[in-house]
Amino acid sequence: MSFTRMDEGRIEDWLVIAREVAARQARMPQIIKSMLQQLQEQVDGFNLNQLQHVLQTATRALRAGASEEMVVAALCHDIGKVISIENHPAIAAEILKPYVSQETYEIIRTHQDFQGRHYYALMGKNPNGRSLYEAEAWYSKAVQFADEWDQTSFDHEYDTLPLDYFEPLLERVFAQSSNAAALQAMQSASAENANA
Ligand SMILES: [Fe+2]
Repeated sequence: MSFTRMDEGRIEDWLVIAREVAARQARMPQIIKSMLQQLQEQVDGFNLNQLQHVLQTATRALRAGASEEMVVAALCHDIGKVISIENHPAIAAEILKPYVSQETYEIIRTHQDFQGRHYYALMGKNPNGRSLYEAEAWYSKAVQFADEWDQTSFDHEYDTLPLDYFEPLLERVFAQSSNAAALQAMQSASAENANA
C-alpha cells in the first residue's frame, strides 16, 4: 500500500483494500460457525450448554416455518455471549445487521427485553420491558421468538438438529453482505472518475 496515513490514499489503494476485505468477509460463515462452537463451553448451571440452546431455538424456528434469515438469526441470537453476557443481544444484532432485514435485526437486538417476561420477576427486575415495543410492526414476531422458541429451548429431551444441518443456511445468509455492494459502488465511482 502506498500510503502511511489515510488522507494520502488513492482510489486505486482503496479498491485493492475493498477487494481484500470482500475476500476475507466471504469467510463469514466459517467465522460464525467457530464462534457458535465456542458457546459449547458455556453451561453456567443450565440443563444445556449455550450451543445446544441456540441450536434448539433455531430448530424450533425452522419447524415453525420461519424465514431462512430468521432461522439463522435464531441460531446466532446468543452468539454475543462469547464476548459478554451483559450486552449480548446488541453484539449479536450488530453482527447480523449487514445480512438481515431491519425487522430481524430489531428482534435480535431487543430479545432480552422480551425474554424477561419469563423470569425477571423472580429477580426483582421489570418483566414488562417488551411493552416499549408494542407499537412496532415486528412486535408479534419478537413475542413468538421469545415465548415459543427462545425461552422454551433448554430441554434435553427435544429433538434438536445439529450444527452441520444449519451450515448451508449460514452459507447463504452470510454470503449476502452489504460489503459486496460497497465494493461495486466504489468500482463504479472509480470508473466514472476515470471517464470524467
Ligand atoms: Fe437465548
